[in-house]
This record gives sequence, structure tokens and C-alpha cells, in this order.
Amino acid sequence: MTQAAPKTQASDPGGAPGPRHVAIIMDGNGRWARARGRPRLFGHHAGAKRVREIVEACPDLGVKYLTIFAFSTENWKRTQTEVAGLMSLFRRYITKEARALRDEGVRVRFIGDRVKLDDKLVAMMDELEGMTAHNDRVHLTIALNYGSRDEVSRATQRLAQDVADGRLDPAEVDEETLPRYLDTRVLPDPDLVIRTSGEARISNFLLWQSAYAEYEFIDTLWPDFTCDIFARLVRSYGARDRRFGAVTA
Ligand code: IPE
Ligand code: IPE
Ligand code: MG
Repeated sequence: MTQAAPKTQASDPGGAPGPRHVAIIMDGNGRWARARGRPRLFGHHAGAKRVREIVEACPDLGVKYLTIFAFSTENWKRTQTEVAGLMSLFRRYITKEARALRDEGVRVRFIGDRVKLDDKLVAMMDELEGMTAHNDRVHLTIALNYGSRDEVSRATQRLAQDVADGRLDPAEVDEETLPRYLDTRVLPDPDLVIRTSGEARISNFLLWQSAYAEYEFIDTLWPDFTCDIFARLVRSYGARDRRFGAVTA
């Protein structure tokens, strides 16, 4: 009997395709700075510098979608100095990188709750999304004030409102419904999730979307993450047997 094809786009029973969508939990900036006797923000600046090279490596590796975790809904618990430093780093990053991202064919999107972010930063995020909206070479999604539980709560609120307004019949809610309300609605599910810094946890990142993702937890701290490491992880993904609950020969 023929098995139904799994719904993920990266699957290709005929070969060993690479991951189409890679998501990265960029962790370890603080420890990288501490090891150098420097403040945590020094590590965040070093970490931000790594992003460009990884984005640029994507097309050759066949990675069409790259999603990076920049700031979680839980990261507000850090000191005011660190949070303010990170917010100003995000503004700086957008100012510095916008033109190169646009010219290199990168389409930038942000996921996460913008309500808590300051208006100036949100305006810059909107502008960057707008000025790269026509690009299609690489789709870079930056998770900023993102948490899966928060995302699912906001999605559920909108879904419930559609039911209340008579636009959605509760009996028709299935696995395809909720994803249409998530921040990631236009993105395919991640095929590979990488976390740096030796922690083997998800920390509230893309919980629904990564139900069948492959995971790589590596000890490297994010500011030390290189294209070579990225390429190795992407290539080793091709050797994995993703069964999606079925039995393969
Ligand atoms: C990840 O590095 C960046 C953010 C969470 C903003 P960390 O700041 O978590 O670095 P460690 O985990 O303390 O080393
Ligand atoms: C996850 O890292 C969030 C980001 C990388 C932005 P954290 O350092 O915040 O996660 P925990 O606290 O170790 O779980
Ligand atoms: Mg951390």
C-alpha cells in the first residue's frame, strides 16, 4: 500500500535533500563575553555580527528559509541595562544591515509580539519588511519578542474572535486551522532546528511548527558559530531518516 506523502516541503523520497527551512536558537553570547572578561552586551554585539555570514551561506546550501531567535518573551526578565542594550542593538542592526539585505535578495520578516516593543523599533522593522518584500532569494525571519506560548495565545484569541463573529465554524477547526493564525503563517515548518551553547532545550521557540523538525544541539557558543559549522549541520541533516510516524523500507 502506498503511504501518503508527508506534508513537509523538504522531504523527497528520491534523494537526500537538505533542509529547506533552518531555525536557529542563537545562544551563548553572555558566556562568550564572560570568558573574555567583558560585559554581556559585548557578546551580543559579537553574536549579531555572525548573522550576515550565515544568511549569505544559505543559497549555496539550498536553505531557502532561515529563522533566528533574537529575543524571547522571557528575556524581559534580564537587567534593564541588558534589555535596553539589546533593543538598541536591534535598531543598530537594522540601520546597518538594511541595504545589504535588500541588495542581496533577502526577504526579512519579524515574528513575535510587537506591542511591547518601542514605536521607533517597530517602525524600523516595518520599513525593513517593506523594502525587502519583493525579494525571494533567502527568507530571513527574525524572532523578536517571540515566544511560542504567547504566539499560540494571540492566535487563539483571533481564532476565538472569528468563531464569535460567525466567520469560523468550531466543527471545522483542524490541524490546518491554527497555523493560519500563527505569526509564521506564510512560512513552511522548520526542517532543522539548531541550538548553540550546549543547552538541550527549546526555550519556547516554534513549538507547534517544530513538531517534526530534526534537532541539533551543539556546544559552540553563538559568536563562535561559523559557516563551516553551519554547512556541516545542514549536510548531516541529509543523512537523517525522517519517518513522520510512518515505516520506511
Ligand atoms: C543569547 O545569548 C542571546 C539572547 C538570549 C538575547 P545569551 O544572552 O542567552 O547568552 P548566555 O546563554 O547567557 O551565555
Ligand atoms: C533563548 O535563549 C532565547 C534566545 C536565544 C533569544 P535563553 O538564553 O533566553 O534561554 P534559556 O533562558 O537558557 O532557556
Ligand atoms: Mg542563553
